[in-house]
Amino acid sequence: MQLIDTHVHINFDVFQGDLTLLRKRWQEAGLVHLVHSCVKPDEFQGIQSLADRFPELSFAVGLHPLDVDDWQEDTAEKIESLALSDPRVVAIGETGLDFFKADNHEAQKLAFYAQLEIAQKLDKPVIIHCRDAASTMKELVEAFWRERGAVKGVMHCWGGNKEETKWFLDLGFYISFSGIVTFKKAQQIQESAKFVPSDRILIETDCPFLAPVPKRGKTNEPSYVKYVAEKVAQLREVSLETLAEQTTTNACQLFNLKITSNIDSPRDNQALV
Ligand code: NI
Repeated sequence: MQLIDTHVHINFDVFQGDLTLLRKRWQEAGLVHLVHSCVKPDEFQGIQSLADRFPELSFAVGLHPLDVDDWQEDTAEKIESLALSDPRVVAIGETGLDFFKADNHEAQKLAFYAQLEIAQKLDKPVIIHCRDAASTMKELVEAFWRERGAVKGVMHCWGGNKEETKWFLDLGFYISFSGIVTFKKAQQIQESAKFVPSDRILIETDCPFLAPVPKRGKTNEPSYVKYVAEKVAQLREVSLETLAEQTTTNACQLFNLKITSNIDSPRDNQALV
């Protein structure tokens, strides 16, 4: 079985000192690749050195909606040139809108729009964070599509209801489920996880946040993506192997990943082509 965690933050302090063990555990859990997100362009070098150390790591560059106070005149240019500086950059983000924790809506919209432009220009997917902002997000993306054309991307750590999920599927996005889908009170998200088409679904941990059941309350880590996979497979009434194969194929497709390490059998390898 091969799994891909499409959203990690293993550069955070909480993981330092434990990275070798952390990797051992993600390898044991069947992870063949990880996509490292980025909340600030300043993180770039640190993430790059993690990718030097772990060849199964690809990464993104961007500015998180909760950090838009850091947005400067030259930030877009900086993100673009960093993205072009390393072939292991597979996405722009994470960007998006978070109206739950901040009310600087206009600044968030501006930074999001600018990052959509970069993603489109570089033909890379965008990693979207969207919290309590689905209808504004929909309007903004539709406006962008009308003015500039489509951009591919993923709604990461998705928490929307069925209707909202449909909006973003209609806009062509992938939908990524995190540990939240395992929570008892997450019926709305579980409903969404049941009907996303099998060629548009992804899984992630968003570690170190939001550890899935049965690790809830602990520091989340990439190996726990297997619990997300188990829950989503159960909800969709497919085998874990099928869900793993679908989500891994989808991650390779969206992020244009080439799985080069940790292949557990030649047959599995073929399934990714
Ligand atoms: Ni994140």
